[in-house]
Amino acid sequence: MANDLARWPGVNRRQPSQTSPTWVVRHALARWLQAQAEELAAGPSVRILDVGCGVKPYYPFFAAVASEYVGVDVVANPAAELLGPVEALPVDDGAFDVVLCTQVLEHCDNPAQAVRELRRVTAPGGRVLASTHGVQVYHPSPRDYWRWTHEGLGRIFSENGDWSGLEVMPGAGTASGLAMLLGTYVEIALRRSVFARPPVWALNRLGAALDARSTQLSQPVPGSLIPNFHVVALV
Ligand SMILES: C[S@@+](CC[C@H](N)C(=O)[O-])C[C@H]1O[C@@H](n2cnc3c(N)ncnc32)[C@H](O)[C@@H]1O
Repeated sequence: MANDLARWPGVNRRQPSQTSPTWVVRHALARWLQAQAEELAAGPSVRILDVGCGVKPYYPFFAAVASEYVGVDVVANPAAELLGPVEALPVDDGAFDVVLCTQVLEHCDNPAQAVRELRRVTAPGGRVLASTHGVQVYHPSPRDYWRWTHEGLGRIFSENGDWSGLEVMPGAGTASGLAMLLGTYVEIALRRSVFARPPVWALNRLGAALDARSTQLSQPVPGSLIPNFHVVALV
């Protein structure tokens, strides 16, 4: 079982390489989801819906706590049990205890309706775990519409759901955000060759080190450039 989980698709998301410009987003997201899964492990097993599931890269983190793990995607996807958009989930009200929606909100037509649907399908006592970009280059999947500030994300969740708790946290800070953007163009300039790896690695290390030393850089304050946000919305 442990071997099967280690080979589960999406290892580049669970254990991203520091030579990738998106390391800062994926590394922080993976650590956050792992911590959420560890917290859930203290309680009874949970029914999990993975919305916009892609290859369900985070299933291995939740495998031990999930009595059910269902994927839904807007495009035909062999990993998804259900086909449908986040704005009209083909799922009953309150059918899941944990609703994951990682790196999807920026791609959907109507994020307010998406948040209403995430709330609708979450059971009493359950939680929505969502993540989405603060800044990022255009990356359609199949479209790419939106970017967020912590305030905007907090507002869209609070206006479109009745939550008993809501937290919007930066996945990483401004120096990491700048490193990610610069690293993306370094990779393009060096035609994604192996020569791009050392400078991208160095940028990622520098960004993380600077963010760790400064609240001004690590927090969403005026002038900040946060690459990704994590949302916990409790029902
Ligand atoms: C960037 S990928 C993220 C995949 C996965 N959640 C992850 O974190 O690796 C975006 C995913 O959202 C799906 N998607 C895009 N628009 C959607 C929508 N309106 N409703 C549901 N899924 C959507 C895409 O098909 C794709 O699988």
